[in-house]
Parts: sequence; C-alpha cells; structure tokens
Amino acid sequence: MHVSELKDEKIISDILKLKVERKAIILAHNYQIGEVQDIADFVGDSLGLSQQAAATDAEVIVFCGVHFMAETAKILSPDKTVLMPDLNAGCAMANMITPRQLNEMKRKHPDAVVVCYVNCTVETKAESDYCCTSANAVKVVKSIPQDKEILFIPDKYLGDYAAKQANRKLILWEGYCPTHRRILAEDILRMKAQYPKAEVLVHPECTPDVIAMADRVLSTSGICKRATESESEEFIIGTEIGMLHRLVKENPQNKFYSASNLADCHSMKLNNLEKILWSLEDMVYPVEIPPDIARRAKRSIDRMLEIV
Ligand code: 13P
Ligand code: SF4
Repeated sequence: MHVSELKDEKIISDILKLKVERKAIILAHNYQIGEVQDIADFVGDSLGLSQQAAATDAEVIVFCGVHFMAETAKILSPDKTVLMPDLNAGCAMANMITPRQLNEMKRKHPDAVVVCYVNCTVETKAESDYCCTSANAVKVVKSIPQDKEILFIPDKYLGDYAAKQANRKLILWEGYCPTHRRILAEDILRMKAQYPKAEVLVHPECTPDVIAMADRVLSTSGICKRATESESEEFIIGTEIGMLHRLVKENPQNKFYSASNLADCHSMKLNNLEKILWSLEDMVYPVEIPPDIARRAKRSIDRMLEIV
C-alpha cells in the first residue's frame, strides 16, 4: 500500500472515532472533493443539507461546504455546534449584495416582497421575506400573490430563470456565480456535437443562453436524481466540476462529461480530510450568529421550508 493511502486510512479512522465521541455528523455539499463526500453522513444540495441540519439529533455538525450553508445549518439548529473546517470557504456570489444595498433597493420598491437565494449572507437573509434554493426558486416565486412586486437577490441568472418559469416579472440584482458564468454556450454546442446522444443537465446559476440549450435545469441533487432515473447513458453536466464524483460513483455504467473544466469553485475545494480531523479535535471553527439576526433570517428560511 502507498504511504499516502496509509496516512488517509489513519485520518479516516481517527475522524470516525472522534465523530462518535463528539456525537457529530458530517454534512457535505455535492461539490466537495471526493474524499470529503466519501466520509460524509449526508451529501446533498443546499436544500437537502438545510433539511438534514434541521432534522439531526447529533450535537455537532461538521459542515463541509461554504459559509452561507453552514450559517443556514446554525440558524436551523441553534443549540448545536456547527463547525466549518476552513473559514475561508466563502461563496463569491453571496458577497455580491450587502444588507445596505438591499435596503436601498427596498426603499425604491417599498411594497415589494424580497426573495433571497440562499447563497447570501445571514445579514441579507435577515432583511428578506422569503429564502429559496436552486431546487425551489420557481415554487417560491409562484407562491407569492401575482399582484406583489418581487425583488429577487442576488443571482440575476436564477432570477431570470424563475421569472421565465413562473411567467412573471422580477426585479433582479446584478449578482451571479463566477464559476457558472465560465460555462459558455459554445461549450455546450461543442460538447453536443461531440456527444450527440448525451442529455444536457445544467444548474440554474448558468447564463440564460446555456440554460436555453439544456434538456433539464436542476439543482445539484436534482442533477444526481435525474442521472439515476434517466434512460440516457451519457450526460453533459453544466455545473461545478466536483459534481462528477458523485455522478460517476452512483452511476458507474454511465458516462458524464463536464461542460467546462473551468467551472471550478475554489472555495468548495478548501475542505479536506486533515481539516475535518482538526475540526473535530479542536472543535473549530464554530459558526456564531447574533441571536436577533438569526431570528430574522430564520423567518425567511422557515417560509421557504413551509412551501417545500
Ligand atoms: P445547490 O443548492 O443546487 O446545490 O447549489 C448550490 C450552489 O452553490 C451552486 O453553485
Ligand atoms: Fe457560490 Fe458559485 Fe461556488 Fe456555488 S459555485 S458556492 S454559487 S461561488
């Protein structure tokens, strides 16, 4: 056996031992590196992870994803210790709107309802009415009375997609995911020419021209579900490249092609086995949210969870 494999085995057995001692579970997003997904108790999309965080009776949640996801887990499980193995794991889109900018927008549209994509900070959620994820943005928008104006923040591409699906006008913020914006319409065209039988599955954070070429537009877990249920044997995947690990693992008989190898979310790749072990050893880094902000942010998340 190779030395690095032996080292990994030791780290894995230490993590599993400590997990029991600390009464901890490990939650991981679908974009995490393979070794992190493989040791997690649950791997999923933002919606699935928040539901797991709300339902678990573990005392500690080691959250392998990015900041806003760990914050959501803490809001839903305030009495639990939520740990982030690496505090630098932020989401570039979440920082594209501040509560101050949102409040300025609200002043211009005083009667509007604010729908925030879960990819925003807890402070921004606290100023919003409804939260949504990529799995339920259309449903959340549709649930709001037709005569209400809607401010959709921060993702203009998800907002555009939800507006088209719900057939209503939304006021959008200029935010976007830099990782998904690297997937170009030309990439999809080229891949389709190369693999004409492949089904094209893309995430709604992609640009409208990429979305227009897709067979289905789905959250990350929606993509996993579709890949398992579909009759197709080949798939072009328009989202972050980390998705391929789970897709290949769950469907070894199928072929998966990443639409663009540039779609790499660096923040999602900061977690690894060593950091999970240190996190459990030293109980670092706990997510703390001021109670008033957590309470106000929770309203928007609870409204979403009632709809789904
Ligand atoms: P999902 O909720 O679909 O997993 O998306 C989260 C995300 O950050 C995609 O970039
Ligand atoms: Fe944020 Fe984009 Fe990374 Fe998702 S892929 S966490 S939206 S920067």
